[in-house]
Amino acid sequence: MAEQIKTIGVLTSGGDAPGMNAAVRAVVRTGWHLGLKVMGVYRGYNGLLEGGVIKELAPRDLGDTIQRGGTVLYTARSERFKEDETQWEAVENCKKLGIEGLVVVGGDGSFQGARKLSMKGIPCVGVPGTIDNDIASSSYTIGYDTAMNTAVEMVDKLRDTAQSHDRCSIVEVMGRHAGHLALNTGIACGATAILVPEVPYDFERDILERIEQARATGKQHFIIVVAEGVEVHVEQLAKDIEGRTGIESRATVLGHVQRGGSPTLRDRVIASQMGNKAVHLLKEGIGNRVVIYQNEKILDMDIYQALEMKKTIDYDLLEISKELTI
Ligand code: ADP
Ligand code: F6P
Repeated sequence: MAEQIKTIGVLTSGGDAPGMNAAVRAVVRTGWHLGLKVMGVYRGYNGLLEGGVIKELAPRDLGDTIQRGGTVLYTARSERFKEDETQWEAVENCKKLGIEGLVVVGGDGSFQGARKLSMKGIPCVGVPGTIDNDIASSSYTIGYDTAMNTAVEMVDKLRDTAQSHDRCSIVEVMGRHAGHLALNTGIACGATAILVPEVPYDFERDILERIEQARATGKQHFIIVVAEGVEVHVEQLAKDIEGRTGIESRATVLGHVQRGGSPTLRDRVIASQMGNKAVHLLKEGIGNRVVIYQNEKILDMDIYQALEMKKTIDYDLLEISKELTI
């Protein structure tokens, strides 16, 4: 069975993440080494549907991309792909083009799509790519390190101006459902308070008391890091803090700047390892899997099992942040 696969496809789906290009490059070049034809599917799952773009990729086509952010295959959130009928259309298209296996680089949503395609006869391997690091089966997702470093760089700049004006800077970082990015950025930037969607917050206890405690030790400027998924408007939070403490406050939403930029070494290396692993699995006739990172090792796991898992934030880290920032 293993020898039967001759042609595979690769696509990137969901939110882009720095390092996705390194993963695609690894897929294409590993495929070439293993004697496989690799087809690039453009714009996520939309590429597999009527009017989609699919092109054969040669090893040199991915030259000069390992250091680039974004995804050269483009990406999309495809609502119509969630329908059963549309998934069958994708399966038919794959069959017409001879695509016998597919590497899907994306987040949990993209893995749901990959699972459905696998169940319909196109073996898929998911590669975790999202700046949110919210994939339970893998302790690391491609793009996370770059996004954290970008966020830290931005918050450091905000600290310069907050310090000069004795202000409080409230910074929203990405993470619609997960606080990993916020928590690590907050620790790395010495935030006075960090709010994450996983832990309900209390304005008096988690913000005011912390600011007042720090102020009592002589602190005159403050950073509050808030994950996007926390139900609060940072502009309103700034007004409330200013109103209650008298400290001039400013809100900043970092936004999509966190999704771009040249991937860090960690993202390039892990993406290269993961893309390589995905192709080896398909070459051996193994689909319906996700590539994962656990204890410094690149492993794989059943996609269904992976999607059943739940991830929590590192509560110890949250506690540490409270002891470090007074
Ligand atoms: P991410 O992959 O980053 O989690 P999304 O949740 O937006 O991003 O999912 C990306 C794409 O994956 C969706 O736009 C859709 O095409 C596909 N997808 C998501 N959920 C499903 C599902 N339940 N069934 C089939 N496809 C899905
Ligand atoms: O999943 C990554 C992510 O950047 C989230 O942190 C954020 O909530 C979302 O994507 C934003 O997505 P969009 O590209 O649709 O603005």
